[in-house]
Amino acid sequence: MPTLAIVGAQWGDEAKGKMVDVLGAEADVVIRYSGGNNAGHTVITGDKEFKFQLIPAGILHPGTTAVIASGMVVCPKGLLEELDRTRALKPDLGTLKISNAAHVVFPYHRMLDALEEEARGENKIGTTSRGIGPAYQDKVARLGIRMGELIVPEIFEHRLREVLAYKNRLLIMFGSEPLEFDSLYAEFSGYASRLKSLVCDTEILAQEAVEAGKRVLFEGAQGTFLDLDSGTYPYVTSSHPVAGGACLGTGIGPRAIQSVLGVCKAYTTRVGAGPFPTELHDDVGERIRQQGQEYGTVTGRSRRCGWLDTVVLRQSCRLNSLSGLVLTRLDVLSGIPELRAATAYTLGADTIGHMPSNTWEFARVQPVYESLPGWSESLRKARSLDDLPREARQYLQFVEDQSKTPIAIVSIGPDRDETIVVRPDLIWG
Ligand code: IMP
Repeated sequence: MPTLAIVGAQWGDEAKGKMVDVLGAEADVVIRYSGGNNAGHTVITGDKEFKFQLIPAGILHPGTTAVIASGMVVCPKGLLEELDRTRALKPDLGTLKISNAAHVVFPYHRMLDALEEEARGENKIGTTSRGIGPAYQDKVARLGIRMGELIVPEIFEHRLREVLAYKNRLLIMFGSEPLEFDSLYAEFSGYASRLKSLVCDTEILAQEAVEAGKRVLFEGAQGTFLDLDSGTYPYVTSSHPVAGGACLGTGIGPRAIQSVLGVCKAYTTRVGAGPFPTELHDDVGERIRQQGQEYGTVTGRSRRCGWLDTVVLRQSCRLNSLSGLVLTRLDVLSGIPELRAATAYTLGADTIGHMPSNTWEFARVQPVYESLPGWSESLRKARSLDDLPREARQYLQFVEDQSKTPIAIVSIGPDRDETIVVRPDLIWG
């Protein structure tokens, strides 16, 4: 059963897009299982740069079926723009399918995202303002409108009337203008007619692909610690980026996932608010930001940067039952003479080796660091571990030892070729 889930092992932006593109070349089906256009996956191939927010990055391979699964929330306007933009750069794409159970993001979700953030004042989450939280709120409240409803005019009309009446009451309560039914219905009916042919039951598609022994890649978005349950609540997204989310969000059972790779940067970044024990507020943090161009793909916000945190990584390995790690952006650390990584925390008088599950306690931990020697060479030409400087290999060994998880792949630059596959046996199980 050659099935593989790729998840973000930290707080998102771990360069999963590149890995999904590289491994998607070997996949028959690539299924994205959570989130919406809050995600931004960049893929660089030769002189072309693709930015994906909703479409699985695997679509770049013509023989592949790329699926937007039921765990996702879909902004139809954003999706159509993304599809047009991608086709203009590369006409021969894979086949796109959209789950009839994926929820639709409407303008009132975006408006409420902004209004709710404003109402939170200094406790704001720092969302991507894409309406993701409010769209998932509607799903849980059983008010959401699914893709399968959007594409049937009489059902869509009925559902939109019902939901908009309620949403307009909320918008008015927040002091905002209500939305007008006719124009919203017309706008979204237009999107529906363009997307209709792509919408289907993707649970069956996923189940049959797994049963047929096809290579199925489950593409995670965001990162483990943005997970609604396992992340640093409330500074989280509203979906399930962890590997378990691949079951919930696609309709396959847990035993259908053979291998799970956790993508982890050689350091740590975070966008938005929330605790980040190894965050750097000095020149080294700024150097990492500049060297790694750590600015959000979706919002352009400057990412918070810090040292690698192996306490976080160990928790990620357990939460996702990782088969292996994909360590990315090792090249960004070139030129830093002394590297540091957290191996434990102090919390008051105690030293602990795990993340406290209470976020308010996690916010109080102080990292216990280990120092490692850096290297000055550029790594981007390396194509095997032997091509790496001794200190870089030492760093990889340290990550394996601390996480107790083997490194399957090392990424040393944004291009497809700038990849070292260390353990091919861990990839497709
Ligand atoms: P939301 O997903 O827009 O509701 O934002 C909730 C939190 O998740 C905020 O801190 C965002 O910055 C963060 N977030 C959402 N998507 C991503 C992502 O793809 N990468 C990194 N952070 C993200």
